[in-house]
Amino acid sequence: MRILVTGGAGFIGSHFIHVALEQLPDVEIVNLDLMTYAANPANVADVADDPRYSFIQGDIGDAEVVAKAMQGVTHVANFAAESHVDRSIHGARDFIMTDVLGTYVLCQAAKAAGVERYLQVSTDEVYGSIDEGAFTETHPLNPSSPYSASKAGGDLQAFAYMHTFGLPVIVTRGSNTYGPNQYPEKLIPLFVTNALDGEKLPVYGDGGQIRDWIHGRDHAAGVLAALLKGTPGEVYNIGGGNERTNMWITEQVLEQTGASRDLITYVEDRLGHDVRYALDTSKAQRELGWKPEISFDQGLADTVKWYQENRAWWEPIKSGEYREFYEQQYASLEK
Ligand code: DAU
Repeated sequence: MRILVTGGAGFIGSHFIHVALEQLPDVEIVNLDLMTYAANPANVADVADDPRYSFIQGDIGDAEVVAKAMQGVTHVANFAAESHVDRSIHGARDFIMTDVLGTYVLCQAAKAAGVERYLQVSTDEVYGSIDEGAFTETHPLNPSSPYSASKAGGDLQAFAYMHTFGLPVIVTRGSNTYGPNQYPEKLIPLFVTNALDGEKLPVYGDGGQIRDWIHGRDHAAGVLAALLKGTPGEVYNIGGGNERTNMWITEQVLEQTGASRDLITYVEDRLGHDVRYALDTSKAQRELGWKPEISFDQGLADTVKWYQENRAWWEPIKSGEYREFYEQQYASLEK
C-alpha cells in the first residue's frame, strides 16, 4: 500500500502520517506538500529517516508534480488546503486555487493512475451552522464562508469524479481540531500562546459560539479508518463530541496557563460567523469501527503543556508573515 498524503507537513496531515506509520508496518507514505505558511518541517522531522517515508515539495494544483508524486500510489489522502476562515474573509483566491482547483488536479491524476481509494478530507463547516441537534452526512451543503464554500466545491468536484469516471472517492468531514503542531492562528493555539506571552485573547462577539472539538490524533485515526474501511461514494463525519462555547475554551486556557483574566478582550464579531457546529458521528463509529479516544480534558491539558514546552516550535512563527496577518486581522476588529 502506497499512500499519497498531501499537506502532510501541516497540522492534521502530519498527525495522519504518524498514525499511519504506527498502524501499518508495510505502508509507504509519499508526502506532497507545498510548504506554505502553515506547514512546518518540524511536524514530520521525526519520520524523515523512516525508509517508508518520502517527501516531495510541490503544489497539488501543479499537474506535472502531482503526476510524478502519484507514481505507484494505491491510496490518496488529500489534506492539502487553505483552512483559516478569517484569511478567506480577507481574500479567497488561494482557497479556491488549492481547495477546489487543487482537488480537481489531484482527482484527475488519481483517475489516470487508477488508484484504489481517493479520500477527500473535508470539514463540518460545509453543512453551515445548526441551532439544535447535529449534522448527519445527508444534511444539505450550506457553507457560509469563502473557506467553507471552497471546501464544499472540493467535495463536489471529487464526487463528480466518482460519478463520471468511477474514481473511488470517500469524503470525511471533521470538526474543530486541536492538539500539538497546530499553527497559532486557530482559536486554541492562538489563545494558549498569547496567554503564555501575556498578550490579549481576542474573543469574537460575545464568545457564545459553539464548536465540537476533536484531538488531531483522533481526527487522523478517523481519516485512516475511512481510507481503509470506508465505502466509496460515502461521507463520514469525524467529530469529538465535545461541544464547548468559545468562552469556555477561553476560561480553560486562562486557568491552565495561569494567565490573568484581564487578557480577555472582546472584539468585533467575525463577518458571517457561524453560531454552532455539531456532528452526528454514529455512521463512522458503526461502519468504520472508529471512535475518538482522547478525552477533551486530557487532550487540552496535554496541548497546553506541549505549547509550554515547545516555544522553539511556535516563537519563530509569531513574527514575519504571521505578524502581518495578525495586525491586519485584529486591528480591524478592535472596538
Ligand atoms: O469546524 C471545522 C473547522 O474548524 C475547520 O474546517 C477549519 O479549517 C478550522 O479553522 C476551524 O474553523 P473555525 O472557524 O471554527 O476555527 P477557529 O479556530 O478560527 O475559530 C474557532 C472559534 O473561535 C470561532 O467561533 C471563532 C472564534 N475565535 C477565533 C479566533 C481565531 C475567536 O473568538 N477569536 C479568535 O481570535
